[in-house]
Amino acid sequence: MATRREVLKALGALSAAGASAALLPLKAFGASNDSSGVASFTQPLRVPPVLTPTSATSTTDYYDMQIAQTTATIIPGKSTPIIGYNGMTPGPTIRARVGREAVVNFYNGLPTTTLGGATGNTVVHLHGGHAPSASDGFPTDYINPGSNRTYTYPNNQVPATLWYHDHVMDDTAPHVWYGLAGFYLLTDSVEEALNLPSGAYEVPLVIQDRRFNTSGALAYSGTNNGETGDAVLVNGVVQPYFSVAKRKYRFRVLNGSNSRQYRLALSNGASFKVLGMEGGLLAAPVTVTNITLAPAERADIVIDFSGIAVGSNVTLRNTLVGSTSTLYNLMRFNVTTTATDTSVVPSTLRPFTKLNAADAVATRTFTLGGGGMMGGAWTINGAVFNPNTVIASPKLGTTEIWQFNNGGMMGGMNHPIHIHDVMFQILDINGAAPAATHAGWKDTVNVPAGGSARVIMKFTDYTGKYVLHCHNLEHEDNSMMARFDVVP
Ligand code: C2O
Ligand code: CU
Ligand code: CU
Repeated sequence: MATRREVLKALGALSAAGASAALLPLKAFGASNDSSGVASFTQPLRVPPVLTPTSATSTTDYYDMQIAQTTATIIPGKSTPIIGYNGMTPGPTIRARVGREAVVNFYNGLPTTTLGGATGNTVVHLHGGHAPSASDGFPTDYINPGSNRTYTYPNNQVPATLWYHDHVMDDTAPHVWYGLAGFYLLTDSVEEALNLPSGAYEVPLVIQDRRFNTSGALAYSGTNNGETGDAVLVNGVVQPYFSVAKRKYRFRVLNGSNSRQYRLALSNGASFKVLGMEGGLLAAPVTVTNITLAPAERADIVIDFSGIAVGSNVTLRNTLVGSTSTLYNLMRFNVTTTATDTSVVPSTLRPFTKLNAADAVATRTFTLGGGGMMGGAWTINGAVFNPNTVIASPKLGTTEIWQFNNGGMMGGMNHPIHIHDVMFQILDINGAAPAATHAGWKDTVNVPAGGSARVIMKFTDYTGKYVLHCHNLEHEDNSMMARFDVVP
């Protein structure tokens, strides 16, 4: 396989000779024009290893993780500096069970200043987790270099596709860009009894766009509108291929990108089933031909390859960009074998209770603004994040409606708003009820440019400080985030 450099050299030689057909070999080699130079579908997908508890009791699993600078081989023949959990990106997957507590001790082995000039302080947040304030990863609850912190996750919530990632004030975006993110998959016996595809047929996929410089290092500019890359990574691998059998697979898809959105679709136009999004299973699966994920959104989907001939392939695409974009093809499924499939996607998944707007004791309005051509700060209600300013104090045990008005300059940008501590339900986006896929439990809602969204949620179990923020990570860092306190 020719490397990108060899292809470019050959192209240079040909075009010097005036050969306009020189573009053809690019396609023939399947070479990529993105900054990684890795040819599409030449690297096998990696599935992050499941983390083994260091010890366990009848109630609790204990885990240890280290946060450190290290290197990864993302581009063959080059070494890419990363910040990893246990030396890898994405970090190892934690598989947890409802009713069993997980206690995770993170040691910060970073220097005072780390990659991209970012702080060596870290914070870990379990995104989608319902945890006491002290374990939620408040942005100034730092783990300083050389220190550790223990987070307790009770797992008293509906099972779902969660993920953990860095949450340090001002530098979450570079920390995540350089590698600090991993899956946390929570299950229970109800879900297991459904007989969904499992084991080797249940695969987490985190999609992240990245940019590389010629040495193979990740390039990070910290642009105020949100960092974007030109190369697609799935589970830390550039446009991988995944060898599948002719059967159903369950994929836990996470948009782990700093700011990019993706509309997922299959190259053969086939439909797939959405089982749920951030907060676990829907009442019933929803059949779609595409689904759009804003940063931090997850889609729990089942793709059935049983109708595809062995030796054929299907590409997972991002149809928000044109077909010539380096961000169009995300990964390829190569159907290489047959397999028996006793799994099912039942027509009902998990009972779902709709929250009632009439039960809300308060409606709060948050105006999203700032940004603009001058690179100004992003704001909530006109203010930047201050860890000591409490913007809302919902009472424990009550239900509230939060309305987000996206009044950004010149129509502004999308703001995928995420609320910590609770799962919510979307009442409406731009006044319309959410699509069936988005009508279950969610923790992130894309508030469209110039538009609005309303969500409803109940504050249960824990009091204390939490945050809400835009999950475009550069917006979050500068500083579209606010503190709310759940009060007794
Ligand atoms: Cu995924 Cu407050 O974060
Ligand atoms: Cu979160
Ligand atoms: Cu935003």
